[in-house]
Amino acid sequence: MDLFEKCYQFSRAKEIIAAGVLPYFLTVQENHGPLVKLEGRDVIMAGSNDYLGLSQHPEVIEAACQAAKEFGSSCSGSRFLNGTTTLHTRLEEELADFLGTEACLAFTTGYLTNQGVIQTLVQRNEYLISDKENHASIVAGSLIAKALGANVLRYGTNDMADLEATLKTIPIDAPKLIVTDGVFSMTGRIVDLPKMVELARRYKARVMIDEAHAVGVLGEDGQGTCAHFGLKNGSDVELTMGTFSKSFASLGGFIAGERSVIDYIKFNSQAFRFSASMSPASVGAVRASLRIIRREPERVARLLEISRQVREGVKSHGFKIIEGITPIIPIIIGDDMATFGAWKRLLDNGVFVNAVIAPGVPQGQQLLRVSLIATYKQEHVDKIVEMIGKVGKELGLIGG
Ligand SMILES: Cc1ncc(COP(=O)(O)O)c(C=O)c1O
Repeated sequence: MDLFEKCYQFSRAKEIIAAGVLPYFLTVQENHGPLVKLEGRDVIMAGSNDYLGLSQHPEVIEAACQAAKEFGSSCSGSRFLNGTTTLHTRLEEELADFLGTEACLAFTTGYLTNQGVIQTLVQRNEYLISDKENHASIVAGSLIAKALGANVLRYGTNDMADLEATLKTIPIDAPKLIVTDGVFSMTGRIVDLPKMVELARRYKARVMIDEAHAVGVLGEDGQGTCAHFGLKNGSDVELTMGTFSKSFASLGGFIAGERSVIDYIKFNSQAFRFSASMSPASVGAVRASLRIIRREPERVARLLEISRQVREGVKSHGFKIIEGITPIIPIIIGDDMATFGAWKRLLDNGVFVNAVIAPGVPQGQQLLRVSLIATYKQEHVDKIVEMIGKVGKELGLIGG
């Protein structure tokens, strides 16, 4: 059979397009902060990860422009060779200072960070213990580590009893890394970090946490999951990973922790060494976002207050949601086409959310992922809640 046959036979996307409910690859024609023009419609954006709304902040935009003026539009090479600028090294120092770690290393994307760090650190005959709901980039790193001879074990999501049972199967002195999302990207759940850290000490494992959806969101100053639980990055949790594509309103990723470990990754990670470095504009934007996060922690408080209001509002309509405090609010629909239908009806009513189906979530857990932005006006918050209720009633997803 021809290699391309599967492509010619791939009709699922065409069917959904024909039904007029494809929720993916929509074109944003204008972006005015929480309001965007999407394929001719003005809608409230409730499906982005720009949690603090900084992608529209004049200081961030100006910093991106200034960095491009000073260092050009691209580094045209990897960090290893010609692609390290003073912008990159300053960003790493500033981020380590913010998180309270000895050192930090900036990768080109968050995806590459997870892939690169895991593959580099967990080697032949060593152990990686990973939450089943971890992000696809962690899975990518796990698969490479496994192909190179590491043992990869997975446990039920945020299930600390299952994590302990898994740890018990591994020789106590075997090198091991537990890796988890801090805030799970599709359900908005926060990992039970205090228990995980306790288990890691007892079973002699290191911990790496992916803070993509936690930095800028959790902890009074937006430092993430450790701060939320009164734990420390760099000691209680040895490795803190994050992306710049969410609260930092840019593009890139980082890993932070003990200097000798970060240096090892810097010199040994293929993903780091063989990929061009973050563009100057991206680095400039992150540095400005970090400055604003540190200067204006009230943005984090506002985000959590909005999250509380939307969670309460959605529940008061009769929807069952996964309890929590984060700005990721999953409304479980449980079927592909019903999820697409609800997504479309919501869009027609002026609210864009994300429709998530397998493999983003397990079959039967298809959901609308509502994600919020700190810079909404109150009328935006109220409209999101109102329209979710209206669509829920119209489609019979909730009582009448
Ligand atoms: C939990 C998590 N980790 C890593 C990533 C990858 O980050 P990036 O988009 O910066 O490559 C994402 C992005 O969706 C994520 O949600």
